Amino acid sequence: MAKKKFKFIDLFSGIGAFHQALVDLGGECVFASDIDKYAIETYYDNYHMDSNCNIMEVKEKDIPKHDVLCAGFPCQAFSTAGHKKGFEDTRGTLFFEIARILKYHKTKYIILENVKNLVGHDNGNTWKVIKNTLIELGYILTEEPLLMSPNYLGIPQLRERVFILGVHKSYLDNISPELTYKKGDTYYLNIKKITRKEAPETSIYSVLDDLSEEEAQDYAITEYEKYTLTAWDEFHKNIDPKVLGFPVWTFEFGETYDYSEFPKWKQDYVRKNRKLYLDNKKFIDKWMTKYNVNGFKLRDKKFEWQAGDKYDSVWETSIQLRQSGIRCKKPDYFPTLVAMVQTPIIGKYKRRMTPREVARLQSFPDTFIYNKDLHQAYKQFGNSANIDIIKYLASQLLVDIL
Ligand SMILES: C[S@@+](CC[C@H](N)C(=O)[O-])C[C@H]1O[C@@H](n2cnc3c(N)ncnc32)[C@H](O)[C@@H]1O
Repeated sequence: MAKKKFKFIDLFSGIGAFHQALVDLGGECVFASDIDKYAIETYYDNYHMDSNCNIMEVKEKDIPKHDVLCAGFPCQAFSTAGHKKGFEDTRGTLFFEIARILKYHKTKYIILENVKNLVGHDNGNTWKVIKNTLIELGYILTEEPLLMSPNYLGIPQLRERVFILGVHKSYLDNISPELTYKKGDTYYLNIKKITRKEAPETSIYSVLDDLSEEEAQDYAITEYEKYTLTAWDEFHKNIDPKVLGFPVWTFEFGETYDYSEFPKWKQDYVRKNRKLYLDNKKFIDKWMTKYNVNGFKLRDKKFEWQAGDKYDSVWETSIQLRQSGIRCKKPDYFPTLVAMVQTPIIGKYKRRMTPREVARLQSFPDTFIYNKDLHQAYKQFGNSANIDIIKYLASQLLVDIL
C-alpha cells in the first residue's frame, strides 16, 4: 500500500466527515474519539476504527503523533469573559480538550468546524476566547473565520458553518510563502473561500433518486399530509400569490376579537389574515368547508409560501412541516439538515428524502454505510459536516503535504 502522505486525528468524530475528507486527500487517521454509541457503530462500519473514547479521559501523551487535528466540536459558553489570555479561560469545556492536545503536541495544522452562530455566541465572547487561545498556543489563523455552505459548492443544502483553520507558527519557514501574509506584526493564513454571492444555482433534484413505487413507499407522506397539502395547493391556486407574503393563519379568518395587546409583528399578521379572508370570503368559506380546515392540527392551519411566483403548485416545491406551520420553498436547495422529523418533503414525489439522498447533502459517497436505525442515520447526517467543504479548505491549508 502506498505510504500515506500525512497523519490526522479526528476529535468529536461522529460518523467521520473529516475522516472521509482527509483520507480522500491522502491522509491516515491515527486516532478518533466520540462517545455516542450509534456514531461509534457507524464509524466502525465504515472505517474499521474504534472511535469509542471520551476525550476528557484521554491523556495528551497517549494520543499518537499527527500532522493535522480535526474537530467539529460542540459550541459551549465559557464562564469567564475573555479578558485573560485564553487557554485558562477554556477549562471545563470541550474546546479545552482541543486546546490541551494542541499545547502538548503543537500540531502543525488544525481544521475546526462549528455552527455559524459561534462568532456571535455569548455576545462574541466564545469566539474571542477561542481565537485568543489558539493564538496563545502559537497558531496563525485566517483574519476572519471562514463561513462556508454546501450550496456555495453546488450542493443543494444551505448550511452555513464556521471553519477555523490554522498552522503552527513554528513551521512558518517550512511552508509555502503564499500560505500566509503579514499585516503589521501579525501573520494571517491565506485561504480562499467562496462567498454567498458566488454560489452557483443548485437544484434539489440533483441528489434525488428516481425511486420505484415500491421503494418510494417507505418514505411516502401520510394520507393526512397529502390531504392537508392538497387543500393548501387549492388555496394557493385560488389566491393571488402576490398577497401571500406573510404566514396564513386560518384561525384568524372571520375573527373579530381585540388584538391590540399582541406584539407588533403578530398584530401585523392578524390584520393581514383578516383582510385576506374578507377579500376572498366566497372562496375561503367554501374551501374551509370542503376540507374541514377547522379540523386540521394547529400546525396545518398555518401556511407560508416562500417559493416566489415562478411555481404554480405546492407539489412543485420543497415542503417543511414545522411547528410554526407548513412552509413551501423553492426546489433550489434544502434548508440545513437537523433531524428526521424535519426532513423536507419533495412535493413532486410526495415523499421524504431517503438516508442515501440526505448523505449526498453532506457529500458522503454512495458507498457509505449508514446506520441501520434510520432515525439515527438521519440524525447523524444532520450532526455531521459537509465533506466537500472540508476537502475544499483542507486542500489549500495542506498544500505543502499533499
Ligand atoms: C457536532 S458532532 C460532530 C460530528 C462530526 N464532525 C461528523 O462528521 O459526524 C459532535 C460530536 O461530539 C461528540 N462528543 C460530545 N462529547 C464528547 C466527548 N466528551 N468525547 C468525545 N466525543 C464527544 C458527540 O457525541 C457528537 O458526535
